[in-house]
Amino acid sequence: MKFFVDTADINDIRDLASTGLLDGVTTNPSLIAKSGKQFLPLIEEICGVVDGPVSAEVASTDYETMLKEGKKLAAIADNVAVKVPLTPAGLKVCKELSDAGTMVNVTLCFSALQAVLAAKAGATFISPFVGRLDDLSQDGMQLIADIVQIYGNYPEWYTEVLVASVRHPVHILESAKLGADVVTCPPAVIKGLYNHPLTDKGLATFVDDWKKTGQSIL
Ligand code: E4P
Repeated sequence: MKFFVDTADINDIRDLASTGLLDGVTTNPSLIAKSGKQFLPLIEEICGVVDGPVSAEVASTDYETMLKEGKKLAAIADNVAVKVPLTPAGLKVCKELSDAGTMVNVTLCFSALQAVLAAKAGATFISPFVGRLDDLSQDGMQLIADIVQIYGNYPEWYTEVLVASVRHPVHILESAKLGADVVTCPPAVIKGLYNHPLTDKGLATFVDDWKKTGQSIL
């Protein structure tokens, strides 16, 4: 399973890239606004830090402008994945960019049949938003299960399931059990995966006991 970080904070991206465990980045207009940075240079900077796909979202909603924006974003770097919304116009843009060899991430997916449309449009990634469904008392992870099952029935579809709107480690655990291709998570959620109180307790004991030996490895 690939790990993407869902942020436009370059410091968090650098920090996580240094672990060697980061496979890509997703951004969206809200995250760009939060960063306070200029969008295009920021995407270029992120693409220089991370080798894997970096999702950059179009800002318009009509076909012609979205297509122009998508082409401009794709020209920033080879690892840009143009993010388009799951609308009729968005999927037309997806088809056109995908056919031209550009990676496309179809975002704002909330149903399995929307995911079917994205696969047929040649999306590289489909982004179902699990947390936002959970917020409405719907089962976000059931949507992932449905999409993984459906995509598995059609080996000719190459669209990867990118679990988005991840809020906590259980979303990641369930995604891995279901065989989702990618999870994109806020930095704090990824960093939290290292933690377990028994790891801290066990390490403290080992450090103390090692001191008692009076030895040094180096
Ligand atoms: C995915 O690409 C989106 O940027 C993101 O996961 C949305 O998450 P949110 O629902 O926490 O805003």
